[in-house]
Amino acid sequence: MNYHQHFSFELPTRIEFGIGLVDTLAEEVTRLGGKRVLLVSDRGLVAAGVVGRVASILTASNFDVVTFTDVEPEPEAEGVTAGAQLCNDEGRDIIVAVGGGSALDTGKSIALMAKNAGHIRDYAGLEVPSSQGLPVIAIPTTAGTGSECAVWSVISEKALNIKYGVGGRNMTATVAFCDPSLSVSLPARLTVGTGLDALTHALESYVNKATQPISEALSEKSMELISRSLRTAVFNGADLQARSDMLLASTMAACAFAPTRLGLAHAMAMPLGAKAKIPHGDVISILLPEVMRFNVNANLEKFARIAAIFGVDTRSFTLREAAHAGVDAVAQLISDIGAPTSLAAYGVQESDLEQLAAESMESGNIVVNPRPATAADLVNIMRKCL
Ligand SMILES: [Fe+2]
Repeated sequence: MNYHQHFSFELPTRIEFGIGLVDTLAEEVTRLGGKRVLLVSDRGLVAAGVVGRVASILTASNFDVVTFTDVEPEPEAEGVTAGAQLCNDEGRDIIVAVGGGSALDTGKSIALMAKNAGHIRDYAGLEVPSSQGLPVIAIPTTAGTGSECAVWSVISEKALNIKYGVGGRNMTATVAFCDPSLSVSLPARLTVGTGLDALTHALESYVNKATQPISEALSEKSMELISRSLRTAVFNGADLQARSDMLLASTMAACAFAPTRLGLAHAMAMPLGAKAKIPHGDVISILLPEVMRFNVNANLEKFARIAAIFGVDTRSFTLREAAHAGVDAVAQLISDIGAPTSLAAYGVQESDLEQLAAESMESGNIVVNPRPATAADLVNIMRKCL
């Protein structure tokens, strides 16, 4: 973009980051004026002991804690409705959400719906008018979705086969409370999917038509951290430096894309996630290489810079060669960590593609993609990923 053009960058969420930070959670709740906490998480984190640990940190400081852990992967609107009901029945005044994107998106959505009438679907879209929700402390335990800093929550209604984003200032966490030590036990498979989701946030924002200087800087740093540390985080999950790099990268990538939106991978991920029930990180991992190959010639300079960020020595390359080396470097990372590669493995068939492409075209991520794309282009990309 032309740097003299107007751009806008707002980050409504305060970020706190540090190893061991979770032990100071009670002070943060006090700072936000909360007394009666709704702790939102999922059953996996109950089993892993994380929910008990967080609850005990709060109860040790005499906070009244009610726990809501009925959060499914790819969270359901039903859970938001039930959580908001519980929140109001129990007179809660603050939400502490702990977990991956599903728990954090649910926690932010409960905070909104505790203060707004109707159904969460009524607020689908960007900045649909609403009242400010309850304060939210978002504690990520994966390094990928960036929900703790994102202005969006993604909600599913499996019975209707739909998935939608609810976005805007009232869908942000008050504080992103990032403690890398909480992510060390994340299984390798989830480290792969969430890590590549974070990379795709940084990359799609970086090459798209709406990017801007502050987002670009955040994307570059995020991609540098992921290039350096995702392999280690996958294969040596106890490495706290790698986990710290990945959590920082994920949070920075979410800040980068807040004002820019994303690209074709995220446009197609919504209907594929809704219809084929593919976990978000997996569908993104499958689509990203072919989306980059589709886009590379529309933004050679940016893809050439990605090559440099990924450590490729491009000094003897033409711009075109360097750009394609950027695509190859990202594809190599995806291959090295054993990410899923096939939509067909999740039951997607050739006969599904036209409808999936038509629904993808509704996404706001289409118009910012660096290369103009038609529904037929999307069918071609998905066909290569079958
Ligand atoms: Fe994503």
